[in-house]
Amino acid sequence: MAPPKSQPTPPGALVIFGAGGDLTKRLIIPALYNLMRAKLLSDRFVLVGVGHSEQDEDAWKKGLHDFLEGVVKKGGAEFEAAKIDEAVWDKLSKTMSFMSGGDVSKPATYDKLKEHLKKRQAETNFEDNIIFYLAIADSLFQTTIDELGKADMLKEDKGFRRIIIEKPFGHDLPSAKALNKDILKSAREEQIYRIDHFLGKETVQNIMALRFANGLFEPLWNRDRIDHVQITVAESIGIERRGKFYEATGALRDMVPNHLFQLLAMTAMEPPVSFEAEDVRAKKAEVFKAIHPLAPEDAVRGQYAAGMVDGAVVAGYRHEQDVAPESTVETYVAMRVMIDNWRWAGVPFYLRTGKRMSARSTEIAIRFKKAPYSLFRDTPTDELSADWMILHIQPDEGISLKFNAKRPGPAVVLEGVAMDFRYADWFKQASAVGYETLIYDCLTGDATLFQRADQIEAAWAVVQPVLDNWANRDPSGFPNYTAGSAGPGAADALIARDRRSWRPVR
Ligand code: BG6
Repeated sequence: MAPPKSQPTPPGALVIFGAGGDLTKRLIIPALYNLMRAKLLSDRFVLVGVGHSEQDEDAWKKGLHDFLEGVVKKGGAEFEAAKIDEAVWDKLSKTMSFMSGGDVSKPATYDKLKEHLKKRQAETNFEDNIIFYLAIADSLFQTTIDELGKADMLKEDKGFRRIIIEKPFGHDLPSAKALNKDILKSAREEQIYRIDHFLGKETVQNIMALRFANGLFEPLWNRDRIDHVQITVAESIGIERRGKFYEATGALRDMVPNHLFQLLAMTAMEPPVSFEAEDVRAKKAEVFKAIHPLAPEDAVRGQYAAGMVDGAVVAGYRHEQDVAPESTVETYVAMRVMIDNWRWAGVPFYLRTGKRMSARSTEIAIRFKKAPYSLFRDTPTDELSADWMILHIQPDEGISLKFNAKRPGPAVVLEGVAMDFRYADWFKQASAVGYETLIYDCLTGDATLFQRADQIEAAWAVVQPVLDNWANRDPSGFPNYTAGSAGPGAADALIARDRRSWRPVR
């Protein structure tokens, strides 16, 4: 885990490939704005946008400014003030320059970029520390890294050279392995920062604090005390305008080996010997390696039909833009995962994620074993309710404990009660969008929250049998859940096999 973020980053340049794209304007620039506002960027920070288009620099900056203004006005959780702080923007804007016509597949682009960086280096001595941020389509990752290598731009003669890669990292195990192997021809593993934006979320990082900074929970965190774990990433949004991407990806690839598995790893990992990146990442990789091979019946899929979400009628997946009318792509996945190690043997982890579910809710719910027998069998409550610990990741970040208490009064009547802790109440501060942490960490060289090659491959290896199985078998009965519901009946059946049921999605 990163040390307290109180010092500005070392001098450095951030080169964004894909500077005219969505990711840059929606997440990277707002994150840099927040870092600038918090005075966490070096005064020798330089931002170079490389865009494919022939846009001019002023128009690029204005576009980013106006977009940021809109986001700030809307008051996303990441912004405390309702208005853009123009002085901060001016400072950030002064660090920014734009290089147009930057086709990443052309060697000439890199010559031009070198010249551009040389000029920027002369104006602002960023000590030759450069991060290349690949905010581009994944099909271009390999070419870009190859070209950077050929242009000698990844050699760390004076400063550091790092590469940030967005997901998707491969689309299955063989492609992820091939990409990792190819990258190593141009860069060292330590130079690669693979982003999973879930790891930038404050509450996800807090799982480690909860587990390893408290003596209270860790002794309970094992097969002796825990009955099972449910990890839910429910989304009420559909696929938005990403039909093309989604048709090629589906819910499993989009969410499971990356986001859900990160939550799984944080929950299930052994305590690392330190918070050094390599120690933490090794423990996470061990979790994936210990997952029992998945059988066909361990995973189910679903696809949404038309329905009602947040009071509005929404179309079914097959009627979304750029989606085939008979598409068999899944928008929902549920799976049962067993971890073959001493801590977790026999404790199922149930994972589910889906689009167009009844609510947006990401949580990790830990169900504790019941008291060994009920002393209270003569009370009006025939069954003790179960004890749960729920880590609410989003939207309302917090931790709840649910346990049994006696209802006040002369009769002994038991009732399930809850103790709720909400980050927003306690810290009175909105959480950040997440990219601040990740960009800051990359600039400071802390790779803890980034994925290492072996982790990525181990995670793909777990889901590969499911991908293979699904590729060979058409799903029957798609669409099989209504938009605005909790998912398909098949998911209920999956957990019911073990005589358990899902927590409601709300
Ligand atoms: C992205 C997926 O990685 O994560 C999207 O491609 C998904 O499909 C998103 O909606 C969820 O992230 P968040 O931060 O909105 O929960």
